[in-house]
Amino acid sequence: MTLDGSTGKRRESIGIGLLGLGTVGSGVAKVLTEEADRLAEIATMPMTLRLVLVRDLTKTRDYSVAPDLLTSDVETVFADPDIDIVVELIGGVEEAYDYICRAISQGKHVATANKDVMARHGAEILSLAREKGVHVLFEASVGAGIPIIGPLTRDLAVNDVRSISGIINGTTNYILTKMAKEGVDFADVLSEAQSLGYAESDPTNDVEGIDASYKLAILATLAFRTKVADTDVYHEGITKLTARDFRYAQELGYAIKLLALGRKENGGVQVRVHPALVPSDSMIAKVDGVLNAVEVDTDLAGRVLFHGRGAGALPTTSAVVSDVLQIAQRIVGGVRPHSADSGGDESIVRPMTDLETRYYLRMTVAERPGVLAQITKVFGDRQISIASIVHKEIDYDDLKAEIVIITNLAREASVQDAISQLEQLEVVIEVGNMIRVEDL
Ligand code: NAP
Ligand code: HSE
Repeated sequence: MTLDGSTGKRRESIGIGLLGLGTVGSGVAKVLTEEADRLAEIATMPMTLRLVLVRDLTKTRDYSVAPDLLTSDVETVFADPDIDIVVELIGGVEEAYDYICRAISQGKHVATANKDVMARHGAEILSLAREKGVHVLFEASVGAGIPIIGPLTRDLAVNDVRSISGIINGTTNYILTKMAKEGVDFADVLSEAQSLGYAESDPTNDVEGIDASYKLAILATLAFRTKVADTDVYHEGITKLTARDFRYAQELGYAIKLLALGRKENGGVQVRVHPALVPSDSMIAKVDGVLNAVEVDTDLAGRVLFHGRGAGALPTTSAVVSDVLQIAQRIVGGVRPHSADSGGDESIVRPMTDLETRYYLRMTVAERPGVLAQITKVFGDRQISIASIVHKEIDYDDLKAEIVIITNLAREASVQDAISQLEQLEVVIEVGNMIRVEDL
């Protein structure tokens, strides 16, 4: 028997209430049950799974828990005085937010893998946790099995973080890797990713860059110690990329990745998620399949790289159960709440129009004399310097050609203005795609 240092309560074990028994919940239930001895040794106290919340009590599951543990009534979890830690794995926003706040209000500690809820309501959750004296950990919310929240809040805490950059969505990285390696179009790979269970049946959040923007908001808030909301993050998805973009990028020495980029800039932060051309020999270009990678650039430690499995039941289980263990150790040790800071002041978010980078533009134009002169004038008039123009395909029957332009460093506002002007030109049939080029 031990005295809980933070509550003064006498206890013989740490009780856990699990909300959700889906992909991740099943993994967590399995590890908590089958690795109970190892966990008890690490926590220096047994940990007991007391209740598991599901919607459907009759469903066949990847991991079956004892039937008397299952409940479809969340009130039983809140009402159980022996549940010390609530593990939220139901997903979504509003219900999950409500359940997390209710658990905290009852003095229960929380572990969650929910990036949607932490990106939208992280500040309020962490502030309530501090007020109520409980721990809230959310390592699995970004990068699944890759430790990144812990390093940002503890191991790198003394550093000034200049930037974070990387690939933080496994589903889209799987799709982009297939498109690059097999020369196939987006729609074909998406249905394959769905049938393999990587992409969800509604893949919107993944393919539109929304999932990555939630994760970047969480990382930027912690890294820059300023509040970055999910709505602060500019996001563009991967749906407009074509097999031709991949072919041309490869010919030019680039790979295409969905990048998440956060940088301190001019007293504010720049936070964006979008597809980007990255040099083929860069580290980030070699991160393939469902893998994730995040590079953190700091003043003292320099550039630190985190790489590993960013999605899936087991990697996510690893992060969730490790959070549960940490909370258990803190309970046993009487450690006062150490929830990550909610991020200080509101951030000044630099507008995308201020961005300076290089650009790839693919367009279909008329194949006749004087066309390039008209196009280059549009760029020149806006002080955009062209690094290269390549004629990719010429159709002599229809007298049209596809060209690819790579610019030198240019302002986003000028490039967007140039695209609007190009679309007005009679010689430009279509501006097919614009992709930013990042020389990471
Ligand atoms: P999932 O497979 O859809 O499982 C959700 C579980 O929650 C199901 O067991 C469901 O019950 C239960 N549930 C949902 N709403 C409920 C409600 N209102 N009341 C009671 N039970 C409810 O989801 P998941 O993939 O495990 O994801 C869980 C969380 O982990 C999400 O926040 C997700 O973003 C995050 N995450 C997932 C991954 C991953 O690779 N899957 C990686 C990192 C983070 P029924 O089974 O009865 O329907
Ligand atoms: N849908 C997410 C991904 C799951 O593909 O990265 C992990 O957060």
